[in-house]
Amino acid sequence: MSIRLGDEAPDFKAQTTQGEINFHEWKGKGWAVLFSHPKDFTPVCTTELGAVAALRPEFEKRNTKVIGLSVDPLDSHVKWEGDIEEVTGHAVNFPMIADPDKKVADLYGMIHPNANDTMTVRSVFVVGPDNKIKLTLTYPASTGRNFQELLRVLDSLQLTAGYQVATPADWKDGDDVIVVPAVSDDEARKKFPRGFVAKKPYLRITPQPNK
Ligand code: BEZ
Repeated sequence: MSIRLGDEAPDFKAQTTQGEINFHEWKGKGWAVLFSHPKDFTPVCTTELGAVAALRPEFEKRNTKVIGLSVDPLDSHVKWEGDIEEVTGHAVNFPMIADPDKKVADLYGMIHPNANDTMTVRSVFVVGPDNKIKLTLTYPASTGRNFQELLRVLDSLQLTAGYQVATPADWKDGDDVIVVPAVSDDEARKKFPRGFVAKKPYLRITPQPNK
């Protein structure tokens, strides 16, 4: 099954390193990042899980819960956590789903058989407060993800959910933003009291409204 932006994030029940969860209930009314990794006790995945653990305070600031997944069993996840802390210096502080029967992996299309028919790829799903999919990413097993980029995307998603703006290439929190084309110049003057610069009629730049 392929999951597309705007779809409802499928709900599921799963065993995790922090007990059994129902995804929607666990997520609550905030944001969530659900990400898969290919396999426990592998090098790139070890660095990734340590990186996510280190960033937990940053995800919390963004009202975002993080949950990992692979098709390995629970006892494997638990044993591997010791290695992750030893190697990266960060104890795994978020749940990891054990999905040996591939139930969740199949539900979210995390197995790409032409890449590998047994392991999950490096999928990321950002789920909004309304349980809708706001972002998907897919990386191959050989490329570890940039989790700072995920924080940047969360900043953009959360900003654009509240204001009629979009964020330009390489934007980061605090930079100027773009007034969306659906807003007329007259409306923009009212909505953005600090004004805007029209580089083109369709490209209007304004200071980030919530700063
Ligand atoms: C890794 O995490 O290093 C990895 C996992 C599966 C295949 C290749 C690399």
